[in-house]
Amino acid sequence: MKIAVAKETRDGEARVALVPELVGKLTALGYDVLVEPGAGLSALISDQEYTGAGAEIDETALADAELVVSVQPLDAEQIRRLRRGTTTVSFLPVNQAQTTVADLRDAGITAHAVELIPRISRAQSMDALSSQALVSGYRCAIVAAGMLRRFLPLNMTAAGTIQAADVVVLGAGVAGLQAIATAKRLGAVVRAYDVRAAAAEEIRSMGAKAIELELETLEGAGGYAREMTEDRADRQRDLLTPYIAAADALITTAAVPGRTAPLLVTREMVEQMSPGSVVVDLAAESGGNVEGSVAGEVVRIGNAQVWGGRNVPSQMPGPASRLYAQNVVNLVTLMTGKDDDGNGVFAPDYADEILSGSCVTQDGRIVHDATRRAIEGPDEQSVTQEAGQ
Ligand code: NAI
Repeated sequence: MKIAVAKETRDGEARVALVPELVGKLTALGYDVLVEPGAGLSALISDQEYTGAGAEIDETALADAELVVSVQPLDAEQIRRLRRGTTTVSFLPVNQAQTTVADLRDAGITAHAVELIPRISRAQSMDALSSQALVSGYRCAIVAAGMLRRFLPLNMTAAGTIQAADVVVLGAGVAGLQAIATAKRLGAVVRAYDVRAAAAEEIRSMGAKAIELELETLEGAGGYAREMTEDRADRQRDLLTPYIAAADALITTAAVPGRTAPLLVTREMVEQMSPGSVVVDLAAESGGNVEGSVAGEVVRIGNAQVWGGRNVPSQMPGPASRLYAQNVVNLVTLMTGKDDDGNGVFAPDYADEILSGSCVTQDGRIVHDATRRAIEGPDEQSVTQEAGQ
């Protein structure tokens, strides 16, 4: 059994899907671990570290392996190098990467999207959305602290007192809670808001103050946020305006699964912030929580510098790779069994909802229903049913 670690090709991607310290976990399962030359360099991991851990550096790793792991989806040229029947594990945003999904289907690849792994307790150790959100949340708070030209903590000195900075965090999921915890550790006064009912308690447990608005909470399936109506969005923006105007730093991390990010903060709201204030929009890439933010850039709106996040986990490639690699190793472990002689065999059981739920293409077909309908149109069966109605 051979598993290949791809060298990432997407511009700006510095992470890698396996780190040397976890190579031994895969060899213990019975895998030969093949790494494309230079795969770890942008995460500061040399080829020698991989070979020292028991992996092999292999120019043709992708063609040689039955299982290929990467962070970003493989590009068209990489897919062409795979053998039919190869299994891949990576992030694969099915709504945006439709051409890649079609390429994977046509190449006969069994492609797994880590973001589709069901968020059940048994799959927590494979939850790459959470592990990377943890990195993003920390990074957001550090970026805000670095851009602010003031102390975060209260300073009481013989020369006088300097007040703590006020930080507001909108969206208190995995990333938001980590941003809150980090800003708190740096000494800021932190206030936070989230639409979910459970969020206020979670915010307080991080030592921050929960902003309580007189609005109904919004929770959908599985405890995730639902989309807001335009009317509620307007009222939420009105009620949040005074908190934002008073903040030295605003960090936004709100998302609704499968949708563009909700617009939480308008340009007019940012314009009310004081000179020297900072806005960090983690959602800039998926539509933006802040009107006018640009992914990968710092723009000025009124008095504020507005930083738009772009592939934020990749800005801390070492720890982000370590956490992602652990998620991947746990998923690969689930795909691996033992034969009668106790040797490891690659034997994914598609009756397992973790594997069936994350599988996008298999045997030349798109098996993820919503993605198949989006790419190939309605299924014949449902067309027949509609015609018969
Ligand atoms: P996410 O990345 O989808 O969204 C981030 C946050 O934005 C969420 O907390 C959401 O409620 C909030 N949000 C959405 N619309 C908003 C709005 N208009 N205004 C303010 N906030 C808004 O969420 P994430 O980080 O994936 O986690 C969401 C929930 O799922 C949390 O309760 C988390 O604890 C839970 N979770 C459960 C897991 C499991 O059971 N394995 C794993 C990870 C998270």
